Amino acid sequence: MTAIAPHGGTLVNQVVTGDERERLLATVKDLKSIRINTWTISDLDLIGVGAFSPLTGFLNEADYHSVVKSMRLVDGTVWSIPITLSVSEEQAQNLSIDEEVALIGENDGVVYGLLNIESIYKVDQLEEIRNVFKTEDPEHPGVKKLLERSPIYVGGSIKVLNRPQPERFGEFYYDPAVTRAIFAEKGWRTVVGFQTRNPVHRAHEYIQKSAMEIVDALFLNPLVGETKSDDVAADVRMKSYVTLLENYYPANRTFLGVFPAAMRYAGPREAIFHAMVRKNYGCTHFIVGRDHAGVGDYYGTYEAQEIFSNFSSEELGIAPLFFEHSFFCTKCGNMASSKTCPHSNEDHLTLSGTKVRALLRDGVCPPPEFTRPEVAKVLIEGMSHQVVI
Ligand code: ADX
Repeated sequence: MTAIAPHGGTLVNQVVTGDERERLLATVKDLKSIRINTWTISDLDLIGVGAFSPLTGFLNEADYHSVVKSMRLVDGTVWSIPITLSVSEEQAQNLSIDEEVALIGENDGVVYGLLNIESIYKVDQLEEIRNVFKTEDPEHPGVKKLLERSPIYVGGSIKVLNRPQPERFGEFYYDPAVTRAIFAEKGWRTVVGFQTRNPVHRAHEYIQKSAMEIVDALFLNPLVGETKSDDVAADVRMKSYVTLLENYYPANRTFLGVFPAAMRYAGPREAIFHAMVRKNYGCTHFIVGRDHAGVGDYYGTYEAQEIFSNFSSEELGIAPLFFEHSFFCTKCGNMASSKTCPHSNEDHLTLSGTKVRALLRDGVCPPPEFTRPEVAKVLIEGMSHQVVI
């Protein structure tokens, strides 16, 4: 059985272990260092384990401009989100091309990796924002994050020396090489990946199960890196996914593992990025529903689906599965979408994420047609301990 090829053809592995790791760690005392935050540590680790294949490091200047303008690396490979390392002006002045520097956690002083500097460049943040987020609104959570960073980036290939992620996410953390091996061992030839930053509600369940009717298995791959503060905390969500799977999904056709990346809220461009990454984890199919990776009203309901038509199926490699806005229809008595239901909006049960979070925070279960009661119970319990900033 041949597994789906990683994006770009080779699964990148920049994690250094054993004697070589010891040798490199010993050189760190003679190197300059760049302090990196949790977000960048997560990007570093994901590059290292090949989740961001074919990237072998933070984007250099040429690739950065190419990605921002045309959603491709210089060699033409599809890549829609700039993965970059930002440094202060002061720090940049102290660095030079071809230099090796240590990447050190800003809060814990851990040497997470090394960077071989290929380019140091100042960017036009507004251009990046306009292209990637399609808005200049500083209230957009992705734009806001980007504007907090210095516009000076350092690009080049990396090596990972210490791994924060597996420990943080425990039993649900798997490197792409491992998920690939597991899918092969289970004999799954087709696996659909599902991205989510939310609890799995009935609409999510409906589109997952519709997809499961045509593929061998579901890889439930919730994003658990940085999200905006009003999203439900990752540890609470993980409990809710376990409960849902135990009660409503066939164990021999589902697999739960985290995607420890930060959420960009870049809608259409992030949908492409999410699909490429899931290909690296070994998925052959990827679900894109309504307003994928969107926030507020910045993107059209199906823009994250439409963007896929810019690329051929050969260059994407993974097959996107598009789903319309789904809901429970009281007249049909089941989950449906406008593709399968003839009734009007008054017959459809839809609740906004904000409304559902408010209900759960008040200890009220949303209707079972919206959230499975077992899941609601876990969320109410978990959210009563969650501090909302
Ligand atoms: S996302 O930011 O991770 O995309 P969310 O967790 O809400 O947000 O969505 C996960 C996936 O389910 C995305 O592909 C999204 O488009 C899809 N989705 C969410 N709600 C619905 C719905 N009611 N109908 C159809 N698709 C949906």
